[in-house]
Amino acid sequence: MAERQPIVGVIMGSDSDLKVMKPAADILEEFGVPHEVRIKSAHRTPERMAEYGRTAVSRGLRVIIAGAGGSAHLPGMIASETRLPVLGVAIESSPDTTNAALGSMIRMPKGIPLATMGKGEAAAANAGLEAVRILALSDDVLGRAYEEYVDSMAHEVILKDARLAADGVAAYLQS
Ligand code: RP5
Repeated sequence: MAERQPIVGVIMGSDSDLKVMKPAADILEEFGVPHEVRIKSAHRTPERMAEYGRTAVSRGLRVIIAGAGGSAHLPGMIASETRLPVLGVAIESSPDTTNAALGSMIRMPKGIPLATMGKGEAAAANAGLEAVRILALSDDVLGRAYEEYVDSMAHEVILKDARLAADGVAAYLQS
């Protein structure tokens, strides 16, 4: 069977970002959203990064998730090369750049918006979910799948609450 055309691009500055970015791709996989995962460095391959942004619409992409660490130019730069919504994920590539990546994303000057999801693996997963929510604006089946995902999370919390109430703190923590 032919691969479906990707509609979400998950890009990152380096393969060292891949572990943190994987949850974004996992969510898209879970929801059956066709996507691609690529490395496009704003520093090391600036031409290829720009080309990726410039051709994103014509290649059928509808959302881009971009992760980077260090000074983390990639999400902002890719946002400047496309009109698609870009969801930025900051990566702590070393202790001394812990907040630099996030800081560079939330300080985008007026004119080029960059939706910043936060940092780390939870932010990457949320970027995948936010992409699903954006796509669900024009896809009711996907919208219902997202609602079921949320319902199932709520159900899990209710079950945990019932178990905590029944067992007490010590037994709950031991189980
Ligand atoms: C950024 O520099 C990448 O996004 C990565 O987070 C960081 C370090 O890259 P490597 O030196 O590990 O390739 O461009």
